[in-house]
Amino acid sequence: MAYKADKNRYGKMIYRRCGNSGLLMPAVSLGLWHNFGAGDDFENSKKMLFKAFDLGITHFDLANNYGPPPGSAESTFGKIFKSDLKKYRDEILVSTKAGYTMWPGPYGDWGSRKYLFASVEQSLKRTGLDYVDIFYHHRFDPNTPMEESLLALDQIVRQGKALYIGISKYDSRQTAKAYAILKELGTPFIIHQPAYNMFNRTIEEGLLNELEEKGLGCITFSPLAQGLLTGKYVKGIPKNSRAARPGGFLKPEHITKEKIDKVIALSEIAAQRGQTLPQMALAWNLRIKTVTSVLIGASSVKQIAENAACLENPDFTADELNRIDEILK
Ligand SMILES: NC(=O)c1ccc[n+]([C@@H]2O[C@H](COP(=O)([O-])OP(=O)(O)OC[C@H]3O[C@@H](n4cnc5c(N)ncnc54)[C@H](OP(=O)(O)O)[C@@H]3O)[C@@H](O)[C@H]2O)c1
Repeated sequence: MAYKADKNRYGKMIYRRCGNSGLLMPAVSLGLWHNFGAGDDFENSKKMLFKAFDLGITHFDLANNYGPPPGSAESTFGKIFKSDLKKYRDEILVSTKAGYTMWPGPYGDWGSRKYLFASVEQSLKRTGLDYVDIFYHHRFDPNTPMEESLLALDQIVRQGKALYIGISKYDSRQTAKAYAILKELGTPFIIHQPAYNMFNRTIEEGLLNELEEKGLGCITFSPLAQGLLTGKYVKGIPKNSRAARPGGFLKPEHITKEKIDKVIALSEIAAQRGQTLPQMALAWNLRIKTVTSVLIGASSVKQIAENAACLENPDFTADELNRIDEILK
């Protein structure tokens, strides 16, 4: 049966303005880095996209290299888009990126004009989209003049292949420079995508201020530290969890006793707040006004529903924030 979106889908989600732009983004967005590849359960991927959209999660984040194999998450999205989501195109924000190794040879990586132009073309083919809503440069390229990468992004917008531009993994100095270049070009550059979670607070050291000052939005990736901040690793590594996947990005050695002790202490605060730990960890990200959206990953519909419910208790007392800081020291 064809998918029909829940008619109450806009009832519970909160939409936050992306910097000073005109774009409103759901406070919770869904990333397709894991669990949407060619080897993953297609029906599960489909159910997750539908559940997300039913909950008002209007934003789906991709990259050229998501899979595995690279490209396959875009293809999975493209299949589901074609069969079920096309009719909702104007209610959906899709982003994709280029910046990591995508194809062999010297033109399939980093930030040359040659790579970025070819990559966006490939992404549009795989997803079946006429345009993406946000196109990101996935990482700063130290060997290509920033002007070259950013002019390519600007022209991708002018060709109608993307509506807005974003950058990811640029530090605050690089971001300030990118902002100046794109401002001069008149490019709709609106967002940065950095990592941010209770175990990785690097962006508090300068990037967040830079974004706020420039009126840019921020979508934080891995807000649950890839699952560590859900409590699922407290009693070891569960079968089928991300850390159990061979060759994954969350390695068993990242799950230290020190982190688990913190997770246990944080879970107590979450329970006192009437939330689960992932819900508290997401609300904690969103306590910062400059954070437009938290970009979650998921392996099941249940996780998406649990995580989206973080919005039911978004506020923290000063005492709660202090206790959290104490634990994270
Ligand atoms: N710009 C970049 O360079 C960059 C880098 C990384 C990610 N990203 C983007 O950010 C998105 C999110 O990253 P992420 O997947 O690392 O985010 P995350 O939200 O920190 O981790 C997601 C993983 O945690 C586990 N999980 C989530 N909710 C749970 C719950 N309620 N209970 C138990 N386990 C739960 C699931 O893993 P399991 O169930 O499989 O254990 C899930 O796949 C990516 O999809 C991608 O779009 C961007």
